[in-house]
Amino acid sequence: MKFKTIKKTKLQKSLTNLPDYGKTYGNFSWTQIEKELAKESGNILNAAYIAIDKHRNTDKKNKIALYYESDNGSKEQYTFTQISELSNQFANLLIKTGVQRGERVFLFLPRIPELFVAFLGILKTGAIAGTLFSAFQEKALLDRLENSEAKILVTDSILYPRVQKILRSLPHLKKIIIVERNAKALPKGEKIIYFAKEMVKMDKEFKIRYMQKNDPAFMLYTSGTTGKPKGVIHKHFAILQQYITAKWVLDLKENDVYWCTADPGWVTGIAYEILGTWANGASTVVFDGRFDPSRWYKIIQDYKVTVWYTAPTAIRMLMAAPDVVKKFDLSPLRHLASVGEPLNPEAVIWSLKAFGLPFHDTWWQTETGAMCIVNIASMDIKPGSMGRPFPGVIADIVDDKGRILPVKKEGNIALRPGFPSLMKSIWRRPQKYRSYFINGWYISGDRGWKDKDGYFWFLSRADDVIKTGGERVGPFEVESVLVEHPGVIEAGVIGKPDALRGEIIKAFVVLKQGVKPSEKLKNELSLYVKKHLAGHAYPREVEFIDKLPKTRSGKIMRRVLKAKELGLPVGDTSTLEEY
Ligand code: PRX
Repeated sequence: MKFKTIKKTKLQKSLTNLPDYGKTYGNFSWTQIEKELAKESGNILNAAYIAIDKHRNTDKKNKIALYYESDNGSKEQYTFTQISELSNQFANLLIKTGVQRGERVFLFLPRIPELFVAFLGILKTGAIAGTLFSAFQEKALLDRLENSEAKILVTDSILYPRVQKILRSLPHLKKIIIVERNAKALPKGEKIIYFAKEMVKMDKEFKIRYMQKNDPAFMLYTSGTTGKPKGVIHKHFAILQQYITAKWVLDLKENDVYWCTADPGWVTGIAYEILGTWANGASTVVFDGRFDPSRWYKIIQDYKVTVWYTAPTAIRMLMAAPDVVKKFDLSPLRHLASVGEPLNPEAVIWSLKAFGLPFHDTWWQTETGAMCIVNIASMDIKPGSMGRPFPGVIADIVDDKGRILPVKKEGNIALRPGFPSLMKSIWRRPQKYRSYFINGWYISGDRGWKDKDGYFWFLSRADDVIKTGGERVGPFEVESVLVEHPGVIEAGVIGKPDALRGEIIKAFVVLKQGVKPSEKLKNELSLYVKKHLAGHAYPREVEFIDKLPKTRSGKIMRRVLKAKELGLPVGDTSTLEEY
C-alpha cells in the first residue's frame, strides 16, 4: 500500500530551527557549527562541559536540567548548576580513587540521577565512560567488563549480586562504588565504597580536563553477527553532531520539555538524553519505570512534555491501546521523533490521528554516534522512509565493492567518513574497525534504497544481527549461553519477524542424546538465557531440531534457519555441509 506524503505547512517549516543553509545542504559546513558551539562553550572542549557546565555562565544556570520520576512515582528535579556541581563531586571522587585519563569507568545502574551525574563526572576527568544496560546478567557483564578492563564500576545494591558472581574474573576492577538509593542492605567488600557517603566529602568545584577532539569520551558494547560484543569508542568531538542534530531534528527550543524514553545503556540515551540535548539546554524528563500506556501518557501530561523521542515498538504498543490516549491532555506535545528500528507507515499515520502530529523517523547506529539519516522538523514526511541524510552527512546506497548504485536499486546503506560523530575505533580490535570501510565508505550493515528525491528506505540488516523491541542482540551471544545448558549440544538463533516487536528471538536447539524434548524444557531454556545473559535477550520461541545447517567449515547458517522459518526459498546451498 502506498502512503501519501505528509506535507508540512509553511508555518511548520518556518517554526523550525533549521537555518537556510540546512535546507540547501550545499552551504552547510561543520566548521561553522564548530565555531558556533565553541563560542557558546568558551572554547573549552570536553563533552561534559559543553553539555552542562557551560550553562552555568548563562541564564540557564537555574533552569531545571533533569526531572526524574521513579517507577513508584517519587519525583526529583535538578538544575544545570546542581548537575554541574554533583558531577564535579563525582569527578573529584574518581581522582581520589586514582583514575587516570583514558581509563575505563563503567556504570551499571537503573535510570537514576546518579547515572547521569556519574557519566558526566567520568568525562570531566578524561576517563572513558562505559554504560551497561540494567537488564544484563553476569555473562553479558563479564564479556564487557573483562574486555574493557574497567577499573571502577558504579552500581547499586540490587544489581550488585550479578557483579559479585564474576568478581574473581575481573582482576582489573579496583573499586566498586555502590549507590545507596533503594538499598535494603548495603553489600560489603574490600573493593566497595559508597556513593553518597563519599560524595558529601567532595568539593563541588573541579578543574575540568581539556580534551582534544579525538580523545575518547565513552564506549558502548554492541553486537555483530559473530563473536563477542565489541567496544565502540566515541570521542568528545561527537558532541558537535549530537548537539546540532538535537537542535535541528529534535527541534529543541528554549522552553521545551523533552522526554527521551531510551536508556543510557544504549547510544540513544547517551547522545540524546545526556550530551546533545543538554548541550541545547533542554529540560529533560527521565522516567525510570516500566512501559505502560497510561503511565507514559501521564508522564507527558504531568511534565507538559513538548518534544518526545521514542522507538517504534513502544509506538506500536501504544497503538494497541487506542482508547487510552483520549484520557489525557497531551496538548503541549509539539514534535515527535523515533529511532532504533523500522518505523512502519501505519505508526506515522496513527500518530497523526492520536496526537495531531507525525513521528519523524531518524536512522543511525551505535557506531555512528549521532543521527545520520533523518526527517528534519521542516521536511515533508514520506511515511515508511527514514528521511534524508543530515546536512554534512554524505550517505548513499553502494554495492559490496563500495560503488554507488542508482535510484531505487537495493544495496548497502553507506556513509562517507568525515562527520564528527563516527566512532573513533573498536576497542582493541583495529582489524574489526577497518572491516567497516570499503572504497572510502563506512558500510553500515543495513540494506536499503534511495528514491529520486533523496529519501532513504530501509529494507533489512545485511547480517544476522537481531533487533527485538528496538534493542540490538547478537545471535552468537544467545547461542553461547544456550550451549552452556547441560541439555544442549548446539543452538542457532535468529530474529523472527514480529508485528509488535519488529523481531523476536527464536532459538533452534539440538539436544544431547537422551534428553527429552518438552514444552517445559523450552521454557527452561528461555529462562536460562534470561537469567544468565539479559532480561531482554531471551528466546521467546524455542524449537528442537536434529541438526543445524552449517557450512563445511562448521559455521551455523542462520539465513537457512530463517528462510525455513519463513517458508522462503533457502537460496544458494552450495557451501553447505549436507543438509
Ligand atoms: O538496523 C538498523 C536499526 O538499528 C541498528 C542500529 O542499532 P543500535 O546500534 O542499537 O542503535 C540504535 C539507536 C541509534 C541499525 O543498523 N535502526 C536504527 N534506526 C533505524 C533502524 N532501522 C530502520 N529504521 C530506523 N530509523
